[in-house]
Amino acid sequence: MILDTLSIINFKNICEEQLTLSPDVNCFVGDNGAGKTNILDAVHYLALAKSMHTLTDSQSVCHGKDSFLVDGKFKRDDGRLDHVVCGYTRRGGKTLKRNGKEYDKLSDHIGGFPIVVVSPADSALISDSAEERRRYINRLISQLDRGYLAQLIRYNTTLQERNKVLKMNPAEDMLLIYDQMLSTSADLLYQRRTEIIAQMRPLVEEYYALLSDQREEVEIEYRSDLQSAPLSELLLQSRQKDFVNEFTSVGVHRDDIIFSIGGYPLRKFGSQGQQKSFLIALKLAEYRLLAEKADDRPILLLDDLFDKLDMRRVAQLLRLVGGDMFGQIMITDCNKHRLQRTLSEAGVEYKLFHINQGKATL
Ligand SMILES: Nc1ncnc2c1ncn2[C@@H]1O[C@H](COP(=O)(O)OP(=O)(O)OP(=O)(O)O)[C@@H](O)[C@H]1O
Ligand SMILES: [Mg+2]
Repeated sequence: MILDTLSIINFKNICEEQLTLSPDVNCFVGDNGAGKTNILDAVHYLALAKSMHTLTDSQSVCHGKDSFLVDGKFKRDDGRLDHVVCGYTRRGGKTLKRNGKEYDKLSDHIGGFPIVVVSPADSALISDSAEERRRYINRLISQLDRGYLAQLIRYNTTLQERNKVLKMNPAEDMLLIYDQMLSTSADLLYQRRTEIIAQMRPLVEEYYALLSDQREEVEIEYRSDLQSAPLSELLLQSRQKDFVNEFTSVGVHRDDIIFSIGGYPLRKFGSQGQQKSFLIALKLAEYRLLAEKADDRPILLLDDLFDKLDMRRVAQLLRLVGGDMFGQIMITDCNKHRLQRTLSEAGVEYKLFHINQGKATL
């Protein structure tokens, strides 16, 4: 999939801009605070109807304005065209249109416009709690499998209800109903997470080896209570404990994904550059899964390309994503000369935009 043209009105510090993008590599260079990441975020709005940061829609409206509009014309790998317009007004909220027709539900758009973002904010996936990693895997699987999100919502609702019921000292029969409902949802979520992480593992290893010139080995591993027994059994075993604690102490809400390097936890023993390389390998694995599912190459956004990486790894990355497996790419960096030199050395052609105070010039 390729974003051919992008128009932006009153989105953060970008008042009005129209860009014609290259189907291959697009570079956005400029000083800190110029608006480079904001352009990528506008693209993210078109693909997923929300900011790539934890920003609300209203925070993305240019200060002092009432609305923003992002408009993009996409070309699919099979030649089909798609015109997407995402608008937000402070009074009327958000609207999303595809080819002139407004979506009934924003969620109908999700998964149809694959995009993968590599950004400095990804480091939270390593440094933060398991909840962050569950959020990541949930977001990814939701794009791959429409039924997953509904199942996840069902699980979380049942979990909340079970926790509420535990506080009321209920009859065991009543609890059994919740246990059954929870187990049914949990089994499906567990199965999907197991499958997806198993698919990602060899890809992450492969990409990490490429980026690091095989200097070190990394691994991802799924951890779930359900690996020891089905949830229905675990709930029975932990019932007394749950009564005392008044919450459900086992289930897929406690799942985690373990990242390691050379057999040790990545968070403690990986250098900053190794952690960054790992996150890129993870995102490229994600790219492959999304590309396969959509039968369309996602757009790859590389925000702050040189963040924590040495020249050699950046060059490896560029050679990799410059190949045919990857489609359109958007890169930001604050150092134009460094970026141009590395791209030339990697033999990658590109289009360059200078960004200054929310304005783009060629
Ligand atoms: N709602 C808004 N209205 C107006 N300006 C905004 C809004 N939100 C953010 N900005 C401005 O956007 C700018 C930041 O843009 P952006 O994050 O794209 O910078 P950048 O070019 O990526 O910089 P860096 O190199 O530091 O990453 C800041 O100047 C900020 O004040
Ligand atoms: Mg930025």
